Amino acid sequence: MGKVIAIDGPSGAGKSTVSKLIAERLGFEFLDTGALYRAAALHLRRMNMLDESPDADISRVLDGVVINFKNGKVFLNDEDVSEAIRTTEAGHYASVFSARKVVRDFLLHSQQDMAINNNIVAEGRDMTTVVFPNAWKKFFLDASEEGRAKRRYLQLKEKGVNVTMEEALRDVRERDERDSSRDIAPLRRADDASYIDTTHLGLEEVINKILEAIGGGCQPIA
Ligand code: DC
Repeated sequence: MGKVIAIDGPSGAGKSTVSKLIAERLGFEFLDTGALYRAAALHLRRMNMLDESPDADISRVLDGVVINFKNGKVFLNDEDVSEAIRTTEAGHYASVFSARKVVRDFLLHSQQDMAINNNIVAEGRDMTTVVFPNAWKKFFLDASEEGRAKRRYLQLKEKGVNVTMEEALRDVRERDERDSSRDIAPLRRADDASYIDTTHLGLEEVINKILEAIGGGCQPIA
């Protein structure tokens, strides 16, 4: 079993960018679990599944589906869906379908398997609580609602997505509400996770805080 650095937090707290860079600096693999939920949701939508579709139908549609990462890209079966999963609609449905036990069960083992032979930085909503409760290091990244909406807005703009600040704020609020209030694996801070409020911190400051807490500086950890 490799070392796991588990990072949770709400949308737009900067988890992905931070986790990716921490992984690069430490020579760890990066596990973006949101991408797995987004790819599963994309597939479910393409197969006409809806919020209220019965578990049996969702389970049948997911049966045999393979979602994995290759060279930093996300593949749904053999299709590169790296771009397709980044729309606001894909984010919305990822949040909707991720509340379903059948979807979470489908993705659980592939997430845990990543750590069997690799040191990883895993980010998502339940890394510190459910998927890797015994992680080597745990962090909870947070930021104000406005700060997170602004980050989301800028990210989407950069990708050429037409979105207003109000829409970004609504999206962040809706998703947080759903991700935190669901019955299974809700977003919550684990008691043993270090809390970092990133609202007024630059990227390097957040990274340095994490590296300091890990105690490994910028050197790769064996
Ligand atoms: O981090 P993200 O925006 O790419 O995640 C998309 C959605 O997937 C998010 O709204 C909730 C869900 N998700 C989850 O339930 N558990 C995870 N570990 C990661 C994401």
